[in-house]
Amino acid sequence: MEKIVILTGAGISAESGLGTFRDEGGLWSQHRIEDVATPEGFARDPALVQGFYNARRAQAAGARPNAAHEALARLQRDWPGEVVIVTQNVDALHEAGGADGVLHMHGTLSGALCGACGHRWVAPEEMAVGEPCPACARPAARPDVVWFGEMPYYMDEIFAHLSGAGIFAAIGTSGQVYPAAGFVEEARQAGAHCVEMSLEPSAVVTRFHETRQGRATETVPAWVAELLERAG
Ligand code: APR
Repeated sequence: MEKIVILTGAGISAESGLGTFRDEGGLWSQHRIEDVATPEGFARDPALVQGFYNARRAQAAGARPNAAHEALARLQRDWPGEVVIVTQNVDALHEAGGADGVLHMHGTLSGALCGACGHRWVAPEEMAVGEPCPACARPAARPDVVWFGEMPYYMDEIFAHLSGAGIFAAIGTSGQVYPAAGFVEEARQAGAHCVEMSLEPSAVVTRFHETRQGRATETVPAWVAELLERAG
């Protein structure tokens, strides 16, 4: 059975109460990206950035996985082929919904990284400015989240998965941030059937063979049910 590679974005967590970035009232209408999601912003005002991620960590801690997260976990369990979930999201709702091996290409809110020695550990609920690194003791702790201008994680692994994909699905992403927005091109090169599921068409919707517009808690369970029906 075909290998399925799935890319998710903030839209899959929207119905769990976590804000998206570019929708009406989204996070980027409340904060400037350059202030809270760049290394320069962190250097300029670490308190603002730690506060931004502490708030998102607290919000994510109170969120529950929704029917879309749970449907993807069901697909991973019941599909006879490999199902790989790549997410741009830094929340842990895929895992809470039962998925495994999720590749968080933009990092995770639960991760802490030392800007000095590269050590990683589980982030505290509230990360303070100048938090010391448990390994080198220098006051260089930061959220282990990939900021603009930084290299996303797992890129080699992701491209290897895309080159073997028979089906590629992009769920809840606006297709405005690369390299994720370019994954559909890789999947097309591999001959994969590409389907987009989003509330609004993404910036790369024309590159998909199929689009299912609507809320993820409706479109994703229906899509998974059809696939599992086909698998018999
Ligand atoms: N169901 C399905 N899709 C939804 C829903 C929903 N309930 N609500 C919103 N969407 C869709 C929107 O139509 C849009 O296409 O989710 C997408 C959200 O787009 P963005 O806010 O741009 O989020 P995303 O694509 O994940 O952003 C990518 O940008 O700022 C960076 O690092 C950040 O990972 C993020 C990256």
